[in-house]
Amino acid sequence: MREYIDFYEEGIVSSLIKFDNVSFSYGKNSVLQDIDLSVEKGEFLAVLGYNGSGKSTMAKLINGILVPSSGKVYVDGMDTSDEKNLSEIRKKAGMVFQNPDNQIVATIVEEDVAFAPENLGLDPKEIRTRVDDAIKAVGLEKHIKDAPHKLSGGQKQRVAIAGVLAMRPMCIILDEPTAMLDPKGRSLVMNVINRLNRENGITVVLITHFMEEAVLADRIIVLANGKIAMEGTPRTIFSEKDKVTSLGLEVPPVTELAIKLSENGIKVSKDIIRPEELIEAITALKEDIH
Ligand SMILES: Nc1ncnc2c1ncn2[C@@H]1O[C@H](COP(=O)(O)OP(=O)(O)O)[C@@H](O)[C@H]1O
Ligand SMILES: [Mg+2]
Repeated sequence: MREYIDFYEEGIVSSLIKFDNVSFSYGKNSVLQDIDLSVEKGEFLAVLGYNGSGKSTMAKLINGILVPSSGKVYVDGMDTSDEKNLSEIRKKAGMVFQNPDNQIVATIVEEDVAFAPENLGLDPKEIRTRVDDAIKAVGLEKHIKDAPHKLSGGQKQRVAIAGVLAMRPMCIILDEPTAMLDPKGRSLVMNVINRLNRENGITVVLITHFMEEAVLADRIIVLANGKIAMEGTPRTIFSEKDKVTSLGLEVPPVTELAIKLSENGIKVSKDIIRPEELIEAITALKEDIH
Protein backbone atom coordinates (compact mmCIF):
# COMPACT_ATOMS: atom_id res chain seq x y z
CA MET A 1 0.00 0.00 0.00
CA ARG A 2 3.05 2.27 -0.28
CA GLU A 3 1.71 3.75 -3.47
CA TYR A 4 -0.96 5.80 -1.70
CA ILE A 5 1.71 7.57 0.30
CA ASP A 6 3.91 8.08 -2.77
CA PHE A 7 0.97 9.76 -4.40
CA TYR A 8 0.98 12.43 -1.71
CA GLU A 9 4.70 12.92 -1.69
CA GLU A 10 4.49 13.82 -5.37
CA GLY A 11 1.83 16.44 -4.66
CA ILE A 12 2.72 20.09 -4.67
CA VAL A 13 -0.75 21.57 -4.27
CA SER A 14 -1.46 21.71 -0.55
CA SER A 15 -5.27 21.62 -0.34
CA LEU A 16 -6.83 18.53 -1.78
CA ILE A 17 -10.37 19.85 -1.49
CA LYS A 18 -11.23 23.52 -1.60
CA PHE A 19 -14.63 25.22 -1.28
CA ASP A 20 -14.30 28.79 -2.46
CA ASN A 21 -17.30 30.90 -1.41
CA VAL A 22 -19.73 28.08 -2.24
CA SER A 23 -23.49 28.42 -2.08
CA PHE A 24 -25.95 25.73 -3.06
CA SER A 25 -29.73 25.73 -3.43
CA TYR A 26 -32.20 23.04 -4.43
CA GLY A 27 -34.59 25.32 -6.34
CA LYS A 28 -35.55 27.99 -3.81
CA ASN A 29 -34.27 25.99 -0.84
CA SER A 30 -30.89 27.50 -0.01
CA VAL A 31 -28.90 24.78 1.77
CA LEU A 32 -25.33 26.13 1.91
CA GLN A 33 -24.25 29.77 1.88
CA ASP A 34 -20.79 31.20 1.20
CA ILE A 35 -18.85 28.18 2.44
CA ASP A 36 -15.05 28.44 2.50
CA LEU A 37 -13.23 25.26 3.40
CA SER A 38 -9.88 23.65 2.67
CA VAL A 39 -9.10 20.02 3.34
CA GLU A 40 -5.39 19.28 3.29
CA LYS A 41 -3.78 16.18 1.87
CA GLY A 42 -3.65 13.46 4.47
CA GLU A 43 -6.15 15.20 6.75
CA PHE A 44 -9.02 13.42 8.52
CA LEU A 45 -11.98 15.79 8.63
CA ALA A 46 -15.29 14.98 10.33
CA VAL A 47 -18.44 16.82 9.25
CA LEU A 48 -21.23 17.10 11.81
CA GLY A 49 -24.61 18.79 11.78
CA TYR A 50 -28.30 18.10 12.51
CA ASN A 51 -30.44 16.32 9.91
CA GLY A 52 -30.97 18.52 6.90
CA SER A 53 -28.00 20.80 7.67
CA GLY A 54 -26.47 20.09 4.26
CA LYS A 55 -23.84 17.43 5.02
CA SER A 56 -24.80 15.11 2.16
CA THR A 57 -25.10 18.08 -0.16
CA MET A 58 -21.55 19.03 0.77
CA ALA A 59 -20.33 15.49 0.04
CA LYS A 60 -22.04 15.50 -3.36
CA LEU A 61 -20.45 18.85 -4.17
CA ILE A 62 -16.99 17.36 -3.59
CA ASN A 63 -17.18 14.77 -6.31
CA GLY A 64 -19.28 16.72 -8.74
CA ILE A 65 -22.60 14.89 -8.32
CA LEU A 66 -23.80 18.43 -7.59
CA VAL A 67 -22.19 21.68 -8.70
CA PRO A 68 -22.36 24.93 -6.71
CA SER A 69 -25.10 27.46 -7.42
CA SER A 70 -22.31 29.99 -6.95
CA GLY A 71 -18.65 29.77 -6.00
CA LYS A 72 -16.28 26.91 -6.87
CA VAL A 73 -15.27 23.54 -5.54
CA TYR A 74 -11.80 22.26 -6.46
CA VAL A 75 -10.44 18.75 -6.01
CA ASP A 76 -6.67 18.63 -6.33
CA GLY A 77 -6.89 21.91 -8.19
CA MET A 78 -9.60 20.72 -10.61
CA ASP A 79 -12.85 22.68 -10.87
CA THR A 80 -15.83 20.33 -10.30
CA SER A 81 -18.07 22.46 -12.51
CA ASP A 82 -15.95 21.65 -15.58
CA GLU A 83 -17.34 18.38 -16.94
CA LYS A 84 -14.01 17.46 -18.49
CA ASN A 85 -12.62 17.05 -14.96
CA LEU A 86 -15.31 14.78 -13.59
CA SER A 87 -13.88 11.35 -14.31
CA GLU A 88 -10.48 12.41 -12.94
CA ILE A 89 -12.14 13.95 -9.85
CA ARG A 90 -14.12 10.77 -9.20
CA LYS A 91 -10.95 8.69 -9.40
CA LYS A 92 -9.30 10.96 -6.84
CA ALA A 93 -12.25 11.36 -4.49
CA GLY A 94 -14.26 8.19 -3.94
CA MET A 95 -17.63 8.19 -2.18
CA VAL A 96 -19.05 5.68 0.28
CA PHE A 97 -22.71 6.02 1.21
CA GLN A 98 -24.89 4.98 4.12
CA ASN A 99 -26.54 1.89 2.69
CA PRO A 100 -24.04 -0.77 1.58
CA ASP A 101 -26.74 -2.67 -0.32
CA ASN A 102 -27.10 0.20 -2.78
CA GLN A 103 -23.38 0.21 -3.55
CA ILE A 104 -22.75 -3.43 -4.24
CA VAL A 105 -23.19 -4.39 -7.88
CA ALA A 106 -21.72 -7.89 -8.30
CA THR A 107 -22.54 -11.32 -6.86
CA ILE A 108 -19.02 -12.13 -5.65
CA VAL A 109 -16.92 -9.89 -3.40
CA GLU A 110 -13.85 -9.77 -5.65
CA GLU A 111 -15.95 -9.04 -8.73
CA ASP A 112 -17.64 -6.19 -6.94
CA VAL A 113 -14.31 -4.66 -5.94
CA ALA A 114 -13.03 -5.11 -9.51
CA PHE A 115 -16.02 -3.36 -11.06
CA ALA A 116 -14.75 0.22 -11.08
CA PRO A 117 -11.13 -0.53 -12.13
CA GLU A 118 -12.48 -2.75 -14.92
CA ASN A 119 -14.44 0.23 -16.16
CA LEU A 120 -11.20 2.19 -16.30
CA GLY A 121 -9.99 -0.33 -18.85
CA LEU A 122 -6.90 -1.27 -16.84
CA ASP A 123 -4.91 -4.35 -17.65
CA PRO A 124 -6.10 -7.51 -15.90
CA LYS A 125 -2.87 -7.93 -13.91
CA GLU A 126 -3.14 -4.39 -12.57
CA ILE A 127 -6.80 -4.99 -11.70
CA ARG A 128 -5.88 -8.18 -9.82
CA THR A 129 -3.24 -6.34 -7.77
CA ARG A 130 -5.61 -3.49 -6.96
CA VAL A 131 -8.43 -5.83 -5.95
CA ASP A 132 -6.17 -7.92 -3.72
CA ASP A 133 -4.65 -4.82 -2.10
CA ALA A 134 -8.06 -3.24 -1.51
CA ILE A 135 -9.58 -6.39 -0.03
CA LYS A 136 -6.57 -6.80 2.24
CA ALA A 137 -6.80 -3.16 3.36
CA VAL A 138 -10.34 -3.76 4.65
CA GLY A 139 -9.51 -7.16 6.14
CA LEU A 140 -11.84 -9.29 3.99
CA GLU A 141 -9.30 -11.73 2.52
CA LYS A 142 -11.32 -14.68 3.79
CA HIS A 143 -14.42 -13.49 1.98
CA ILE A 144 -12.98 -12.78 -1.44
CA LYS A 145 -15.11 -15.47 -3.12
CA ASP A 146 -18.23 -14.96 -1.00
CA ALA A 147 -21.56 -13.58 -2.09
CA PRO A 148 -21.88 -10.03 -0.70
CA HIS A 149 -25.53 -10.56 0.29
CA LYS A 150 -24.40 -13.25 2.75
CA LEU A 151 -22.09 -10.85 4.59
CA SER A 152 -22.95 -8.75 7.63
CA GLY A 153 -23.68 -5.04 7.23
CA GLY A 154 -20.20 -4.11 8.47
CA GLN A 155 -18.58 -6.53 6.03
CA LYS A 156 -20.68 -5.22 3.15
CA GLN A 157 -19.70 -1.68 3.99
CA ARG A 158 -16.06 -2.76 3.93
CA VAL A 159 -16.64 -4.29 0.47
CA ALA A 160 -17.97 -0.89 -0.62
CA ILE A 161 -14.86 0.80 0.82
CA ALA A 162 -12.64 -1.74 -0.97
CA GLY A 163 -14.45 -0.92 -4.23
CA VAL A 164 -13.48 2.72 -3.77
CA LEU A 165 -9.90 1.84 -2.76
CA ALA A 166 -9.45 -0.18 -5.94
CA MET A 167 -9.62 3.15 -7.77
CA ARG A 168 -6.52 4.21 -5.79
CA PRO A 169 -8.14 7.43 -4.60
CA MET A 170 -6.33 10.22 -2.76
CA CYS A 171 -9.44 10.90 -0.74
CA ILE A 172 -12.48 9.03 0.52
CA ILE A 173 -15.70 10.80 1.40
CA LEU A 174 -17.93 8.70 3.62
CA ASP A 175 -21.52 9.80 4.17
CA GLU A 176 -22.71 8.24 7.45
CA PRO A 177 -21.07 4.92 6.56
CA THR A 178 -21.88 3.31 9.91
CA ALA A 179 -25.46 4.55 10.30
CA MET A 180 -26.99 1.19 9.37
CA LEU A 181 -24.48 -1.01 11.18
CA ASP A 182 -24.50 -2.77 14.54
CA PRO A 183 -21.86 -1.73 17.12
CA LYS A 184 -19.40 -4.42 16.01
CA GLY A 185 -19.78 -3.51 12.34
CA ARG A 186 -19.37 0.16 13.21
CA SER A 187 -16.19 -0.45 15.09
CA LEU A 188 -14.65 -2.60 12.33
CA VAL A 189 -15.52 -0.02 9.67
CA MET A 190 -14.14 2.83 11.81
CA ASN A 191 -10.91 0.89 12.37
CA VAL A 192 -10.50 0.52 8.63
CA ILE A 193 -11.20 4.22 7.99
CA ASN A 194 -8.79 5.28 10.71
CA ARG A 195 -6.04 2.99 9.43
CA LEU A 196 -6.44 4.10 5.80
CA ASN A 197 -5.88 7.64 6.97
CA ARG A 198 -3.11 7.11 9.54
CA GLU A 199 -1.15 4.39 7.76
CA ASN A 200 -1.90 4.84 4.07
CA GLY A 201 -2.15 8.61 4.07
CA ILE A 202 -5.57 8.69 2.43
CA THR A 203 -7.45 11.93 3.06
CA VAL A 204 -10.75 11.20 4.81
CA VAL A 205 -13.91 13.28 4.94
CA LEU A 206 -16.26 11.50 7.34
CA ILE A 207 -19.85 12.62 7.73
CA THR A 208 -21.25 11.11 10.89
CA HIS A 209 -23.77 11.59 13.64
CA PHE A 210 -21.72 9.51 16.08
CA MET A 211 -19.65 11.89 18.20
CA GLU A 212 -17.28 9.12 19.28
CA GLU A 213 -16.39 8.65 15.59
CA ALA A 214 -15.81 12.36 15.08
CA VAL A 215 -13.32 12.27 17.96
CA LEU A 216 -10.97 10.23 15.73
CA ALA A 217 -10.64 13.10 13.23
CA ASP A 218 -7.92 15.76 13.09
CA ARG A 219 -10.54 18.46 12.68
CA ILE A 220 -14.30 18.80 12.94
CA ILE A 221 -16.65 21.18 11.21
CA VAL A 222 -20.24 21.60 12.32
CA LEU A 223 -22.79 22.70 9.74
CA ALA A 224 -25.85 24.68 10.82
CA ASN A 225 -28.15 27.09 9.00
CA GLY A 226 -26.17 26.82 5.78
CA LYS A 227 -22.86 27.82 7.39
CA ILE A 228 -19.88 26.31 9.14
CA ALA A 229 -21.01 27.08 12.68
CA MET A 230 -18.02 25.56 14.48
CA GLU A 231 -14.58 24.43 13.41
CA GLY A 232 -11.68 23.04 15.40
CA THR A 233 -10.02 19.98 16.86
CA PRO A 234 -12.33 17.43 18.48
CA ARG A 235 -11.19 18.59 21.92
CA THR A 236 -11.90 22.27 21.30
CA ILE A 237 -15.29 21.50 19.73
CA PHE A 238 -16.46 19.18 22.50
CA SER A 239 -15.21 21.45 25.27
CA GLU A 240 -18.02 23.79 24.20
CA LYS A 241 -20.87 21.57 25.27
CA ASP A 242 -23.51 24.33 25.39
CA LYS A 243 -22.75 25.45 21.85
CA VAL A 244 -22.64 21.88 20.55
CA THR A 245 -26.00 21.17 22.18
CA SER A 246 -27.52 24.36 20.80
CA LEU A 247 -26.60 23.14 17.31
CA GLY A 248 -28.64 19.96 17.78
CA LEU A 249 -25.69 17.71 18.63
CA GLU A 250 -24.28 16.07 21.72
CA VAL A 251 -20.83 15.67 23.19
CA PRO A 252 -19.39 12.11 23.12
CA PRO A 253 -20.79 9.81 25.84
CA VAL A 254 -17.43 9.70 27.63
CA THR A 255 -17.29 13.52 27.74
CA GLU A 256 -20.82 13.55 29.19
CA LEU A 257 -19.69 11.09 31.85
CA ALA A 258 -16.55 13.12 32.67
CA ILE A 259 -18.66 16.28 33.06
CA LYS A 260 -21.07 14.45 35.41
CA LEU A 261 -18.21 13.00 37.48
CA SER A 262 -16.63 16.41 37.69
CA GLU A 263 -19.92 17.99 38.81
CA ASN A 264 -20.11 15.34 41.52
CA GLY A 265 -16.78 16.32 42.97
CA ILE A 266 -14.63 13.67 41.25
CA LYS A 267 -11.59 15.56 40.05
CA VAL A 268 -11.46 14.65 36.36
CA SER A 269 -11.11 17.12 33.51
CA LYS A 270 -14.31 18.08 31.67
CA ASP A 271 -12.62 18.07 28.30
CA ILE A 272 -12.00 14.35 28.13
CA ILE A 273 -13.03 13.01 24.71
CA ARG A 274 -11.70 9.44 24.63
CA PRO A 275 -12.48 6.52 26.95
CA GLU A 276 -8.78 5.83 27.59
CA GLU A 277 -8.36 9.41 28.89
CA LEU A 278 -11.08 8.89 31.48
CA ILE A 279 -9.52 5.61 32.57
CA GLU A 280 -6.20 7.37 32.96
CA ALA A 281 -7.74 10.24 34.95
CA ILE A 282 -9.56 7.90 37.32
CA THR A 283 -6.51 5.68 37.74
CA ALA A 284 -4.48 8.76 38.70
CA LEU A 285 -7.11 9.65 41.35
CA LYS A 286 -6.90 6.16 42.79
CA GLU A 287 -3.13 6.51 43.09
CA ASP A 288 -3.62 9.84 44.93
CA ILE A 289 -5.78 8.16 47.57
CA HIS A 290 -3.28 5.35 48.24
N1 LIG B 1 -32.58 16.22 -4.09
C1 LIG B 1 -33.09 17.17 -3.32
N2 LIG B 1 -34.04 18.02 -3.75
C2 LIG B 1 -34.53 19.00 -2.96
N3 LIG B 1 -34.13 19.22 -1.70
C3 LIG B 1 -33.20 18.42 -1.20
C4 LIG B 1 -32.62 17.35 -1.96
N4 LIG B 1 -31.70 16.73 -1.20
C5 LIG B 1 -31.71 17.36 -0.02
N5 LIG B 1 -32.58 18.37 0.00
C6 LIG B 1 -32.83 19.31 1.12
O1 LIG B 1 -31.61 19.99 1.39
C7 LIG B 1 -31.39 20.13 2.78
C8 LIG B 1 -30.05 19.51 3.15
O2 LIG B 1 -30.11 18.13 2.90
P1 LIG B 1 -28.86 17.17 3.11
O3 LIG B 1 -27.68 17.72 2.42
O4 LIG B 1 -29.31 15.81 2.70
O5 LIG B 1 -28.65 17.27 4.68
P2 LIG B 1 -27.97 16.26 5.73
O6 LIG B 1 -27.18 15.27 4.95
O7 LIG B 1 -27.17 17.13 6.62
O8 LIG B 1 -29.10 15.61 6.48
C9 LIG B 1 -32.60 19.48 3.45
O9 LIG B 1 -33.50 20.51 3.75
C10 LIG B 1 -33.15 18.57 2.40
O10 LIG B 1 -34.53 18.41 2.56
MG1 LIG C 1 -27.20 13.19 4.85
